Amino acid sequence: MARINDAVLLAWRKEFPILAHTTYMISHSLGAMPERARARVREYTDAWAERGIRAWEEGWWEMPITVGNLVGRIIGAGEGDVAMQQNVSVCQWVVASCFDWRARRNKLVTDALNFPSNNYIYHSLERAGARVVTAASPDGMTLPVERILELIDEETALVSVSHVAFRSSYLQDLAAITQRAHAVGAMIVADLYQSAGAVPVNVLELAVDFATGGSVKWLCGGPGAGYLYVRRDLRDQLQPAATGWMAHEEPFAFAGGPMRYSRDSFRFLNGTPNVPGMYAARSGYEIIDEVGVPAIREKSVRQTTRLIELADEAGFRINTCRDPRQRGGVVVIDVPNGYAVTQELARREILVDYRPRAGIRVAPHFYTTDEEIEHTVAEIRAIVGAGVAA
Ligand SMILES: Cc1ncc(COP(=O)(O)O)c(C=O)c1O
Repeated sequence: MARINDAVLLAWRKEFPILAHTTYMISHSLGAMPERARARVREYTDAWAERGIRAWEEGWWEMPITVGNLVGRIIGAGEGDVAMQQNVSVCQWVVASCFDWRARRNKLVTDALNFPSNNYIYHSLERAGARVVTAASPDGMTLPVERILELIDEETALVSVSHVAFRSSYLQDLAAITQRAHAVGAMIVADLYQSAGAVPVNVLELAVDFATGGSVKWLCGGPGAGYLYVRRDLRDQLQPAATGWMAHEEPFAFAGGPMRYSRDSFRFLNGTPNVPGMYAARSGYEIIDEVGVPAIREKSVRQTTRLIELADEAGFRINTCRDPRQRGGVVVIDVPNGYAVTQELARREILVDYRPRAGIRVAPHFYTTDEEIEHTVAEIRAIVGAGVAA
């Protein structure tokens, strides 16, 4: 059964040009470009060239929501509940700016495995009154959920967590954290960048208040297309300070201030959106949705398990959880001179990356063959065995 599924998944390989000549184990960083994205970008330039200014009313204006709907299908959001932004950092700013950090409830709980950009933004809010409390990771790779839960209390306004940690692929228990946040009247923002498209996630079932993510990685959508999900029943009460004219109820009235927020997800937008980025990103979303995240996850668990076995056989240290329930789509292999090994792998047409204090991040995706898994570890072994210089 697994073999039949794999044949269906591997049939997609011809849709990704780079796979013809490269062992592509880096979809946690930049997913492979689908061939059809070329035509999509061409659609954008054709519309710009042929339709000119009319392109705005013929689709461009609505794109943050129509394209957001494609992401919504992957993360379990309702129609109209996802707004496209330029990147996750912007999304996080929009979310954080919905809160009054001078209020008594001014605690923001984050964790040491959260993406640095998010934590930089939160700390900058300290000047506005926020009290940022960070759950420490005991080993830099994992974070027992209790360490986050014990920090969430009646003074907490917002809890922020990456569903899957970028450094170690540690898979966090979002449901437990969301329940705790809601039990004390706090909200939660989940960064899904390293999970959406690799690990099943359903924002409606989880009942998270906000979710952010981008398209560069598992969604194979390229840069410039971040997404922000906001729980529909919260919309009316949220007034993001990070705003702009597209979020106005009547943007083309060009009214003076103060702001009158739109009642739909336009409310969370700001200025002119990244139209070419959204054109480029759509193909990836459509493919991931068609392949199906459960099938992607099943294959990922099988192949990451095999990667760990092979790394064990080679005597390499693994900085990823062995229990797949605590692991996203990446295996982190820690070898001496990891960065130099990564560069030598690239010379051999094997693409992976290196993160300080973690190791070499290796990630199969639905288009990866079992032979590529074996080949990658065999080449790491050969390079380490030959003693590559730092
Ligand atoms: C979990 C996570 N969040 C956020 C980011 C950064 O997102 P952006 O560059 O869109 O702000 C990354 C990118 O590496 C990430 O892995």
